[in-house]
Amino acid sequence: MSEKKTMSRRNFLGIAWGGSIALVFGQAAVALLKFIEPVSAGGFGGSIYAGKVEEFAINSINRILAGRFFISRTEDGIIAMWQKCTHLGCAVPWVEEEGQFHCPCHGSLYNEVGEVTGGPAPRPLDTFPVTIKSGEVWVDTSQPTERSGFDPSQLTDA
Ligand code: FES
Repeated sequence: MSEKKTMSRRNFLGIAWGGSIALVFGQAAVALLKFIEPVSAGGFGGSIYAGKVEEFAINSINRILAGRFFISRTEDGIIAMWQKCTHLGCAVPWVEEEGQFHCPCHGSLYNEVGEVTGGPAPRPLDTFPVTIKSGEVWVDTSQPTERSGFDPSQLTDA
């Protein structure tokens, strides 16, 4: 009789323990999915309105916080680059005084079109497709593109 009670208690504790572990992993899985899941239009992972073309001066870099990317406008066009460092993923700021992107984590350096000029980064900043409609700059953040270098074909006419 008492053995049966011990087994029941053991079973109960086993179920409670298993349920707790399942709950923890379930919450972690939901958090991970929310992190990597593309967001609908208007947020990172979707199509982002960056601004009017004329708001981006030639030879300027503008950060678009909602999209986690930078718009770089050169004399030849516009390129959108993900802020994520290609070394280990830190957010890379544009440092105006230096005239370059300078990763605070391990010192990778990128020029105005995202080419690596120093540090451990293995490749240029990833890009997002840019579309200009009626003078408005839209960036599709659903699919970053890796590249091995910069080519003028990566620029969108503006
Ligand atoms: S994460 Fe940017 S240099 Fe390491």
